[in-house]
Amino acid sequence: MSLATICVVGISGSLRKGSYNTALLRAAMELAPPEMSVEIVDLSPLPIFHPDREHPLPQSVVEFRARLTQADAVLIATPEYNASISSALKNAIDWASRPPQSPLNGKPVAIMGASTGLFGTLRAQLHLRQILVHVGALPLGKPEVLVARAEQAFDSNGRLADETARSFLRELLLALADWVRKVAPI
Ligand code: FNR
Repeated sequence: MSLATICVVGISGSLRKGSYNTALLRAAMELAPPEMSVEIVDLSPLPIFHPDREHPLPQSVVEFRARLTQADAVLIATPEYNASISSALKNAIDWASRPPQSPLNGKPVAIMGASTGLFGTLRAQLHLRQILVHVGALPLGKPEVLVARAEQAFDSNGRLADETARSFLRELLLALADWVRKVAPI
């Protein structure tokens, strides 16, 4: 088994300053196993995708795509907006999906999400999974990390306080490490 560090890029689909999804990624940084590092990439510099502005690619897009290319895996924390993913996340995936050499093609991806609703991003995650398969990414199947009623799961400092959610998140990160070793060994 390789002892090399598994470098994971974390993407929050929310641009909100106090985002629960960004907080979920911070929890992933804290709970990652020793052989894994998680770094969060900010989607806010990305412009709205525009097919007439792909040549040359905007610098922020070049940098975003490079971060994905360099990563061994991607961890996406998706909010749920109107029963689907946020426009910011779809926009980022659209930029990343473009040729040549989409950095998402063949990339192991784990997904999770937090919402204030009762379904905990279930519908958004189903859509996200479908989109990821379409762009050639390799989404991990289980465990599913769905944080419902997020305002109760995080404390006032934005720390994931819910022990059940923390345990599922730990399992997800271990499963992602195994998934990388299986489908895209370093
Ligand atoms: C929401 N929210 C929401 N929640 C949910 O569970 N299902 C939904 O369909 C929606 N729809 C929705 C649409 C829009 C436009 C907004 C702004 C919000 C509430 C959402 O879960 C809540 O705002 C979360 O806090 C968003 O995630 P972040 O920003 O905290 O990461």
